[in-house]
Amino acid sequence: MERRGFIKKGLSWLAYIFGAAALAYPVFLFMSFRKIRKKTVVFHPDEQLAAANFKEGIYLIKKGTDFNALSARCTHLGCTLNFDAVSQQFKCPCHGSLFAISGKWVSGPARKDLMSIPVETEANGDMEVEFEI
Ligand code: FES
Repeated sequence: MERRGFIKKGLSWLAYIFGAAALAYPVFLFMSFRKIRKKTVVFHPDEQLAAANFKEGIYLIKKGTDFNALSARCTHLGCTLNFDAVSQQFKCPCHGSLFAISGKWVSGPARKDLMSIPVETEANGDMEVEFEI
């Protein structure tokens, strides 16, 4: 093989390799983006006193002696909800959706209920809420 032919062939192979990498890169990004990550929020006993306790995107709801955790993300476009202690409802500051303290959708552009998350009680009284982000 002549030197010129060898260089041409080598450049062609390099172009194929870079082309394949350019096509595979978005697929790789998509697959790495899909990794499920978990986050744990711990509510210590002194953070469990109110009817609705907020921490790191989670509301811990106290119902007598039972606890339930709800995501504070509005199901419309993801704004963080505020809890109104007077009406006992979650209000979205962005477009005005309302949710009951149980997480059920009441009114507004959001149509889905809030995401309910299981709560685990530790021996020391801490409440752990683990969820996917
Ligand atoms: S983001 Fe909450 S109502 Fe639109």
